Amino acid sequence: MGILVTGGDGYIGWPTALRIADRTDDRVILVDNLARRDWVEEVGSVSATPVAGVDDRLAAAREVHDLHNLSFVEGDLTERSFVDELLRVHEPDAVVHAAAQPSAPYSQINGERANYTQHNNLQATRNLAFGLHENDLGDTHLIETTTTGIYGAPEFPIPEGGATMEHGGERDEVPFPNMGGSYYHATKGLDAQNLRLANQQFGLPISDVRTAITYGTETPETAADDRLATRFDFDYYFGTVAHRFCAQAVAGYPVTVYGKGEQRKPFVSLEDAVEGLTRLALIDPDDRPDDHTVYNQVTRAISIVEVATTIADVASEFGLDVAVEHFENPRDEDETHKMEIDNSRYAELIGGGRQSFESGVRDILATLTDHETTITAHEDRFLPGVLTDGAD
Ligand SMILES: NC(=O)c1ccc[n+]([C@@H]2O[C@H](COP(=O)([O-])OP(=O)(O)OC[C@H]3O[C@@H](n4cnc5c(N)ncnc54)[C@H](O)[C@@H]3O)[C@@H](O)[C@H]2O)c1
Repeated sequence: MGILVTGGDGYIGWPTALRIADRTDDRVILVDNLARRDWVEEVGSVSATPVAGVDDRLAAAREVHDLHNLSFVEGDLTERSFVDELLRVHEPDAVVHAAAQPSAPYSQINGERANYTQHNNLQATRNLAFGLHENDLGDTHLIETTTTGIYGAPEFPIPEGGATMEHGGERDEVPFPNMGGSYYHATKGLDAQNLRLANQQFGLPISDVRTAITYGTETPETAADDRLATRFDFDYYFGTVAHRFCAQAVAGYPVTVYGKGEQRKPFVSLEDAVEGLTRLALIDPDDRPDDHTVYNQVTRAISIVEVATTIADVASEFGLDVAVEHFENPRDEDETHKMEIDNSRYAELIGGGRQSFESGVRDILATLTDHETTITAHEDRFLPGVLTDGAD
């Protein structure tokens, strides 16, 4: 009995574990190998918000939120025997699988990083799916944060799940083709296939939560004490676009948009992502729409220009004068892509978006202005650069 949160030391996993633990008396077991802390160090950067050690985090959760049902297991999910033992000992009712190497640019650095990312992400997911099946845990709900990035940028509106394909005069519903643009995204496309197989072949209940670019520094649970803060990365490899732009604004740099920047990307706030995953972890099996369900965990598609101008506007409330500059686009991409994406199932799950982009940016800037020194000390990390092992 209990709920397992993999990647429980990570940006999304940690606040999700706190919320789940707050809403249930069952045990909530965090699993992580702390690799994210090492990757960010490896690229010469640091989280803008200081990240407490695991013991301090758990002590703060007990003291501040009276959460006595949280525990932590350090281990590597690519090790099959570790995963089997974890599942046998804890017999979870649900697994929120948020452990992965989640950076596209990191996965693209070289062949070694591509191998590492693909081995890490795919092996971890297979170990969990087979581990549940082979340890007689076939009713356990396996929930994974895959990514909307696997959809790429198609010309048609993105469905929430399969797409209808017409060929040779016939039509059928097919799993959405994998059009992601990096070796990282490819892992999530293949994870989605493996999750489908785990449902078809083993009957495991699956929620494939295709998560959009997530923004925010905090949730009410993490904001309650400095030791509960989740990480916030702003470097080229691990800082997602809105986070990097906000850190650039605080460090006094203009926000740089490649080309027209009218292409829209899907976004979700950390608050909404945490709420969606929490509701799924605790959902009554009778209330699940199906035994294999895709959710597009996204609240809105926003153009890169709108991201930049919103940040510049909100930054002025903090006395920051932020210019938005356009540079020639080094990437081969459609600079006006509309990105229409269906999210009705996800919107129903969380009961509508809880935090707008503008209010998310306000929270981020309020937090980051307290950590300006950390950001400016690492401002050369906004751009791709030398890795600490010299391997880029
Ligand atoms: N942050 C986003 O914008 C975003 C967008 C779409 C999807 N996602 C997905 O959400 C999930 C969480 O992302 P995040 O931003 O919190 O990343 P994160 O790196 O902060 O968290 C992932 C955690 O997993 C751990 N981990 C990785 N490999 C492991 C292994 N083999 N064994 C044990 N632990 C391991 C890492 O140490 C890290 O703490 C990932 O699956 C990611 O792909 C994130």
